[in-house]
Amino acid sequence: MEDTAVFLQSIEVLRLHVDRRLGELIPPAESEPGRLGEAAHYALLAPGKRFRPLLTLLAAEAFGAPIGQALDVACAMEMVHAASLVLDDLPSMDDARLRRGRPTTHRVYGEAEAILASVGLLTRAFGVIAAAEGLSAADRSALVVGLAEAVGFHGLVTGQALDLAERKRPRTAAELDALNHRKTGVLMMAAAEAGARIGGASPKARRELGEFARRIGLAFQIRDDLIDVEDCGEHVGKDVGKDAGMTTLVSALGPRAAAAAMEAHLAAAEAALRRAGCEGRIGRFARDLFSGRKAAA
Ligand code: IPE
Ligand code: IPE
Ligand code: MG
Ligand code: MG
Ligand code: MG
Repeated sequence: MEDTAVFLQSIEVLRLHVDRRLGELIPPAESEPGRLGEAAHYALLAPGKRFRPLLTLLAAEAFGAPIGQALDVACAMEMVHAASLVLDDLPSMDDARLRRGRPTTHRVYGEAEAILASVGLLTRAFGVIAAAEGLSAADRSALVVGLAEAVGFHGLVTGQALDLAERKRPRTAAELDALNHRKTGVLMMAAAEAGARIGGASPKARRELGEFARRIGLAFQIRDDLIDVEDCGEHVGKDVGKDAGMTTLVSALGPRAAAAAMEAHLAAAEAALRRAGCEGRIGRFARDLFSGRKAAA
């Protein structure tokens, strides 16, 4: 029990480091014209799990890098994620009212400021990696390319476009896996692989860690889709029931089979982690996320 408390505390400390550095890496809230800076702070620093930056930090740690060496790159992952959430919530996308326990960014600052804040965060993410200290020029360049691939036309952006297109059309499980991979998995892969690169992992170990994160990403989206339909009996901090009428793995397979698919991805993730031969807290961190519905939003 004490071990669990110590573990959670140590992860919480990392989260605090991430939050502090995130605040330093974007312009002060009051420095931008209008309410742009405020909107960026609102979207980026709202309480979230910080799952993607923690993946980067724990992957770097798993291969022996000091956490500090990966901190800015980890923060860049969260900037991309927060930017994607702002867009995901817009009226033209999921039309969400609540995010991270607060009104969505566009509801507070208006659509134009929300879009601009998202573009600003996305752009800043690449600038932060390009200027990250303690990394070789070759690594910085590879990290920028990796993140650009993950977010761009082969990745998240296309995943979101596919998600929005013909939402009600029946889709096969394979189609849904491909969609979930793009909208959610690719960024997690980029985050984990970035940490592995910073830690000096071999290309093979990095690939295996990428496979771990790919499986975690697929499991993560199924879990998110389950949360959307289930009455979790707790506050998830965002709208639920948003996927009604939309084809997801949960609606296509039913909740039980979807949960079984999620477990299969988690088992495959564990196997990939073993093959990667890395150590430290990363496996437990991922397992813990899925062990309860808490901190789901
Ligand atoms: C929500 O991501 C979007 C999905 C990919 C399902 P998170 O569940 O990680 O959201 P935060 O960052 O904790 O708010
Ligand atoms: C979003 O998936 C994936 C993103 C790239 C943001 P969802 O639309 O299911 O995420 P939530 O449920 O709004 O967090
Ligand atoms: Mg969406
Ligand atoms: Mg959404
Ligand atoms: Mg969802």
